[in-house]
Amino acid sequence: MMFEALKTKATSIIESNSTVDERLLAICKLLKENVSYYDWVGFYFKNGDKDELKLGPYAGAPTDHTIIPFGKGICGQVAISNQNFVVPDVKAQDNYIACSITVKSEIVVPLFLNGENIGQIDIDSNTKDPFSEADERFLEYINEKVAEILT
Ligand code: SME
Repeated sequence: MMFEALKTKATSIIESNSTVDERLLAICKLLKENVSYYDWVGFYFKNGDKDELKLGPYAGAPTDHTIIPFGKGICGQVAISNQNFVVPDVKAQDNYIACSITVKSEIVVPLFLNGENIGQIDIDSNTKDPFSEADERFLEYINEKVAEILT
């Protein structure tokens, strides 16, 4: 399924009546199941007043990294930079937190609510260098839709 079709499906999930976490989980599953190189899809959110991220809904293998301090790993760096982070080859990164030995690449896109970076979508891939600008634009769109149901 191409990104435009996935956007339509994601929008109907967002507009459904289930809880926020159920809708976020459904988005994770939609993306993981329909983009061949998305092998783990999850949301991290700022943990209250703390300078750390807390794992939210995700699809894929369970991870030990349910809390990530700001600045640590790809996710923690995006919490501070407010910029997309595309990692074509995780082995080339010094500040990287490995979740699984099968992961070869990663993309993290920050999620803004009223202009504030409150979390992110994180995708791991078992394929090397699979992400393009189309993934960035698509995931920015997903995060904008998700922000609509967060308060
Ligand atoms: N690899 C991430 C940690 C989160 S896992 O990918 C689920 C990082 O370096 O921040």
